[in-house]
Amino acid sequence: MNYVLGIDLGTSAVKIALVNQHGQVIDEVSKDYPLYHEKSGYSEQDPDDWVNKTIEGLTEITSRYSGSVSTIEGLSFSGQMHGLVLLDEKQVPLRRAILWNDTRTTKQCHDIEEKVGEARLLSITQNRALEGFTLPKILWVKEHESTLFQQVKSVLLPKDYVRLKLTGKLHMDYSDAAGTLLLDIKNRTWSSEIIDILELPPTIFPELVESTAFVGHLSDEIVRQTGLSHDLKVYAGGADNACGAIGAGVSEQGQTMVSIGTSGVVLSFEQNADKDFGGKVHYFHHSVPDSFYSMGVTLAAGYSLSWFKDVFAKDESFEHLLAEAGEVPVGANGLLFTPYLVGERTPHADSTIRASFIGMDSSHKRAHFVRAVLEGITFSLNESIDLFRSYGKEIDHVISIGGGAKSHVWLQMQADIFNARVIKQKSEQGPAMGAAMIAAYGCGWFESLKQCNDTFLEVEQSFEPIPENVNQYQQLFHLYQAVYGQTKELNQGLSLFRK
Ligand code: XUL
Repeated sequence: MNYVLGIDLGTSAVKIALVNQHGQVIDEVSKDYPLYHEKSGYSEQDPDDWVNKTIEGLTEITSRYSGSVSTIEGLSFSGQMHGLVLLDEKQVPLRRAILWNDTRTTKQCHDIEEKVGEARLLSITQNRALEGFTLPKILWVKEHESTLFQQVKSVLLPKDYVRLKLTGKLHMDYSDAAGTLLLDIKNRTWSSEIIDILELPPTIFPELVESTAFVGHLSDEIVRQTGLSHDLKVYAGGADNACGAIGAGVSEQGQTMVSIGTSGVVLSFEQNADKDFGGKVHYFHHSVPDSFYSMGVTLAAGYSLSWFKDVFAKDESFEHLLAEAGEVPVGANGLLFTPYLVGERTPHADSTIRASFIGMDSSHKRAHFVRAVLEGITFSLNESIDLFRSYGKEIDHVISIGGGAKSHVWLQMQADIFNARVIKQKSEQGPAMGAAMIAAYGCGWFESLKQCNDTFLEVEQSFEPIPENVNQYQQLFHLYQAVYGQTKELNQGLSLFRK
């Protein structure tokens, strides 16, 4: 039996799965690293933490592996999107990476839309300028750290840096490049027009490859450190949402996935480069060759729950908190939460908005707050589903992955709020499984990723919407939607007091 490794470079940890030819995960490891929030809106990580923890994780897996390492045939990556890694001529990071959930770049977003033009930007990249994307971060560094910027020789995304340190090869794949706001989506090239207008050095952008491309082997030093084989083949890999989609079986028309990790996304497969959603959702290259996906993003999904736990229930387990929430009725006795802890992307691209609990009364216990947090996150994701439906997309079922798929209470809540069948797969791996599937396809185990899906993925359970709950949630959703407009101005005022 042969094996592949899927490495998912997330925001809270790197997760590595060792997968066999039947798609079974035979070993897995997760290694955390710190996140730095020096100021409100800032979010950074040290790129070398990603590399060190990945090496540690791989070493742990090989040390437990009883077979010959030559049977571990391939490896690929999934990575948190958009994060800016800047390297000097020696390929050393010039500063910490600025991450996808860092919202310091509102001014640069306005500058991009003004200089390139909103309509032209949308027609080249299929996306609007949002704080999370990479291009505004590049402009921020150019403006605020100009001496450092002059030393920049390469711009990479998080998993590209890890791949570089593991193989010595410098690449970026289309699915992740699409999230930079610099990719000409139809012509599959860096947009020289945007690069020229914004006066960026064109040589800092790396060679583009497919997610499934073979890029090389591990360096001698990494082979020595991890115990993996010299012959192991490394494939480029993709954006975490694209890999999560592959790992959930969203590789063909008609499939939609909801993924609840630190962020939450509603992602839907698209066959063509130019379906028009008026820039209201993100539109990116898929890691499945020649295909795309549209996507709405909730910035603080799982993050809202872990924030709540950290601040108010540090010693409880997530399982306990979720079970507690299951005992409280739909609507948490009139308590609503909006998950705007770090601003929002879809449908309100607004870095200043912040979260609220509305309707607190003295009957509310901790369980009501937890339920309100879960419902608020799910309502936010439902805004994306609602938006897709308003553009004619039919969504009668969704595949749920990530933290939100670990609890039956939350899965049923998703079915009731989305008014759609919610499917949970047997494999919990999501993006790491998608990365492993890219490697399995690359190694020639399957003729297509679709064929790999059919062997690797199995439905574990489906959750049908309960009509009575659907009805109550539809009423609550209207109230939820009203909170944004009614708290927008208040939050603009409060932003002056944020440190
Ligand atoms: C997507 C996005 C997040 C990150 C999380 O646009 O910013 O989902 O990819 O890793």
